[in-house]
Amino acid sequence: MPATPALFPDLAGRGVLVTGGGSGIGAALTTAFARQGSRVAFIDIAADESRALANHLSADCRHPVHFIEADLSDVAAARNAVNEAAQKLGRLDVLINNAARDDRHDLETVSESYWDDNLAVNLKPLFFVSQAAVPHMKAQGGGAIVNFSSIAFMLNMGELPAYATAKAGILGLTKSLAGKLGPDNIRVNAILPGMIVTERQKRLWLTDESIATMIERQCLKRILVADDLAGPALFLASAASAAMTAQWIIVDGGIL
Ligand SMILES: NC(=O)c1ccc[n+]([C@@H]2O[C@H](COP(=O)([O-])OP(=O)(O)OC[C@H]3O[C@@H](n4cnc5c(N)ncnc54)[C@H](O)[C@@H]3O)[C@@H](O)[C@H]2O)c1
Repeated sequence: MPATPALFPDLAGRGVLVTGGGSGIGAALTTAFARQGSRVAFIDIAADESRALANHLSADCRHPVHFIEADLSDVAAARNAVNEAAQKLGRLDVLINNAARDDRHDLETVSESYWDDNLAVNLKPLFFVSQAAVPHMKAQGGGAIVNFSSIAFMLNMGELPAYATAKAGILGLTKSLAGKLGPDNIRVNAILPGMIVTERQKRLWLTDESIATMIERQCLKRILVADDLAGPALFLASAASAAMTAQWIIVDGGIL
């Protein structure tokens, strides 16, 4: 079973924005921050699922949880969504860059437009959403950005070169933004999940056999689930990691 997330009292009342927070790992993160007493907004493209989550959490948690519908590959829409989130939350302390699409694609058939579209979801928004969030963080004296990468780019997986490129690029972006924003007391770190068994992963990619093979490679002999990412994300967002920036944490049950 995943660990129950610890309580990080400094996160209560903080303004937290999660991209792709409506389903999968993002929904677990949205839920975990809302249950810490944070003020939470999330941006997603999946309207029905996201609305249901926001309604459920708003009824259940200390503060209302705000769903903002936007396609993050559209930079203008992404900027507007960040500003709307900051306005609804009243402050923006934490940004979790989580949204992505891990679609499989062939070396032989990837077109220029497919490549551009893939990076427009998996890499570009992490820069422009951060760019839009930073002025809000600076205005209140600091903040924390947590970028979701993946161990996929370290596993020589041949079936997702554009996604792997984006996920490797996120680490470069993390270190560059950390260098730029440290003097403003804004920390930037990354999380690299391993095989996290979500409903979407099961529907699209995972089989009983592939899950068993991955568990064989893990030190921990169990399925990893979305809630397993909550503790690491809360930690990197909270003052418990106040001296950590430009770092990454691998959450893969011990593959790498
Ligand atoms: N699930 C895994 O095994 C795994 C492994 C390694 C890394 N990761 C990373 O963790 C993060 C979350 O993974 P997940 O499995 O929950 O992903 P997911 O695909 O299940 O969820 C991503 C969320 O982002 C949203 N989204 C996608 N495109 C969007 C867009 N253009 N605009 C706005 N929202 C958009 C989706 O609607 C969804 O709610 C991703 O960054 C992923 O790369 C996941």
